[in-house]
Amino acid sequence: MAEIAPSILAADFARLADDIASADRAGARILHLDIMDGHFVPNISFGPAIVKTINRLTESFLDVHLMLAEPEKYFKAFVDAGADSITFHHEVHPDPARYADQLRKLGVRAGISINPDRPVEAVLPLLRDFDYLLVMSVFPGFGGQAFIPETLSKVVAAREYIERHDLKTIIQIDGGIDADNAASVIEAGAEILVMGTAFFKAADRAALVRKVASFTPCRK
Ligand code: DX5
Ligand code: ZN
Repeated sequence: MAEIAPSILAADFARLADDIASADRAGARILHLDIMDGHFVPNISFGPAIVKTINRLTESFLDVHLMLAEPEKYFKAFVDAGADSITFHHEVHPDPARYADQLRKLGVRAGISINPDRPVEAVLPLLRDFDYLLVMSVFPGFGGQAFIPETLSKVVAAREYIERHDLKTIIQIDGGIDADNAASVIEAGAEILVMGTAFFKAADRAALVRKVASFTPCRK
């Protein structure tokens, strides 16, 4: 079943507890937490203290997306704060498998992400070491950007690779996802749809969660 992971970046931080409760009530089981350092990406978001607060507010799986130049320095801090999975960017690491191993030893799932301008072939051989592949469908740094349709072919290629090698890696897609393009990204092979703006702006968040859940991913 495909599912939405609401991105807290688009929540109202003055009413964070209400927005998290609303995501829970809508049926979302994963929250996507975007961490930005003002260096790897041209924006700054929040750190482990907020993740710890969010962890107190929900039973949801906390999926932490590190847009950091030196993510490994913060792995432990985010695990201690309550992260259930940690994704870092392929762009920042020469030896990503080593860091996947470090994350597993810390007791969390490991994800690797690629930006829209990176060939998916660069990460395919690494997928056996990762629980998640996060395909960026916008350049990271800001919510509310337009989906880049060319990124869909990476999802298709990753899905083919995963099936051909009988891997368990789950494909996530992040950036500009909404009710209109959800079916096509699921059709391409994405199973977790990170959704910020479209989720928190939706008049009926539960209906959106149900709609995405009703699409069947192509995993055999
Ligand atoms: C982009 C972040 C995304 C972002 C998605 O840098 O990684 O997770 O919050 O937001 P929307 O859905 O608004 O594009
Ligand atoms: Zn993200």
